[in-house]
Amino acid sequence: KKSLRDIDVRGKRVLVRVDFNVPIDEQGNIVDDTRIRACLPTIEYLMDARAKIILMSHLDRPKGRDPRFSLAPVAKRLSRFLEKEVRIAPDCVGEEVKGMVETLSEGEVLLLENLRFHEGETKGDENFAKELASLGEVYVSDAFGTCHRKHASVYLVPKFLKPAVMGFLLEKEINYFEKAMINPQRPVVAVLGGAKVSTKLGIIKNLLNRVDKLFIGGAMAFTFIKAMGYSVGNSLVEEELIPTALDILEEAKKLGVKLYLPVDFLIGQEVSDNTPTRVVPWQEIPDGWMGLDIGHVSLELLSEIIADAQTIVWNGPMGVFELDRFKNGTFGTAKLIAQSSALTIAGGGDTDHAIHKAGVYSAIDFVSTGGGAFLELLEGKPLPCLEVLDDKELQA
Ligand code: 3PG
Repeated sequence: KKSLRDIDVRGKRVLVRVDFNVPIDEQGNIVDDTRIRACLPTIEYLMDARAKIILMSHLDRPKGRDPRFSLAPVAKRLSRFLEKEVRIAPDCVGEEVKGMVETLSEGEVLLLENLRFHEGETKGDENFAKELASLGEVYVSDAFGTCHRKHASVYLVPKFLKPAVMGFLLEKEINYFEKAMINPQRPVVAVLGGAKVSTKLGIIKNLLNRVDKLFIGGAMAFTFIKAMGYSVGNSLVEEELIPTALDILEEAKKLGVKLYLPVDFLIGQEVSDNTPTRVVPWQEIPDGWMGLDIGHVSLELLSEIIADAQTIVWNGPMGVFELDRFKNGTFGTAKLIAQSSALTIAGGGDTDHAIHKAGVYSAIDFVSTGGGAFLELLEGKPLPCLEVLDDKELQA
C-alpha cells in the first residue's frame, strides 16, 4: 500500500484517522497514552511538511453525545507532546467544523470531536462519511487499532477521499506483523494465553500453519488437559470444546508443530488474592481447587522453548495477572520474551497492559497498539480498512 512518504502534502488539508481510544479515568485523566505517542511520527512529519492537519478518532463506545467521552483531554496531552496548541473542534462534522478547518494554517493541528457521537460512524453511513471526506484533500490512515471495523471514518472515507494512504504507525504495524508471521526467520515460537479456547480458536488454527512451536498457557490450557483425560478440579474448562482441543492436538502432530502446555500451576480455591495457594504438577489439580497461574517450572520450560527462537509472537496472559498473587506467570513470560534476542512481537489489549505492568515495554521489539485488530491479523484475516487504501503501483 501507498504510504504518506509517497505523496505531496505541502499546504494541503490532510485528514488523518488515528485511534486515540485511550483509557481515561473518572477525573478525566488519561491513564495510558501509548496510542497517542504512537501517532506522533505521522503528525510531526505532517507538521514539518507544512500540511494543515485534521485529526479524527473515536473514544470508547458512547451512546450519543456524552461529554464524558470528549476527546478534549487527548487534545491537551497532544499539545504537550507537540509543544504546540492542538485545538479541539466542538464536533466532527457541520458548519462550525468546516469553518475551523478553513482557517487552519500550515503546520497547525485540529482534533475533531469523538466520531462516535454520531451513529453514522459505527453504522457505516455513506452520507456521514462523505461529510467527513469533504473536510480534507488527502486521507491518511494511522488507526491500526480500528482497522478491523467497517466504520465510516476508516472504511468509507478512504473510498471518497483520494489519495488515501498509510500513516507511519499503520505501516510499522503491518511491517512488523509481516516480519513475524508472513516471512519470518525460523524457528518461530508463538506464546498464546487467555481464558477461553473459543475466543482464540481461529488464532490457534492459523498459528499451527505458521509457527514451529506453540505454547498454550492461561486458562485455555485446562480444556486441553481435560481433553487428554486428566482432572483439572474447578479450573475453567469449556466442555463443548473438548473434541476441538483433541483435534488441535492431532493437527499439531500432523503438521509437525510442537505444541506445549504448562507443566505446573499455581492453584487456589477461589479467584482472590486471599485464597490459600499451592503449586502442583499439571496432572495433579485436586478437587475444589483451580489453576490461576502457571508455575515456575512452566516458565523454565518456556525459557527452553524460546531459547533457539528467531521470532517470538505473544498474545494473552498466562493467569489472573490482575491479582497480585497470580501475576508472576504472566510477568515472567513478559520478562523471558523481553530478554530474548529473537525478533519479539506482542499484542492484544491484555497483553499490552501486562507488558507495561511488568516494566518491559521497551525491551520488546514491537508491541502492537491493536487489540481486536491484532487478533484478527493473528487469525489470518485481512483488515478491511487496509484493503481500501491506495495501492502503490496504481499511483506512480
Ligand atoms: C480498540 O480499542 O480495540 C479499538 O479502538 C476499537 O474499539 P472498539 O472495539 O470499540 O471498536
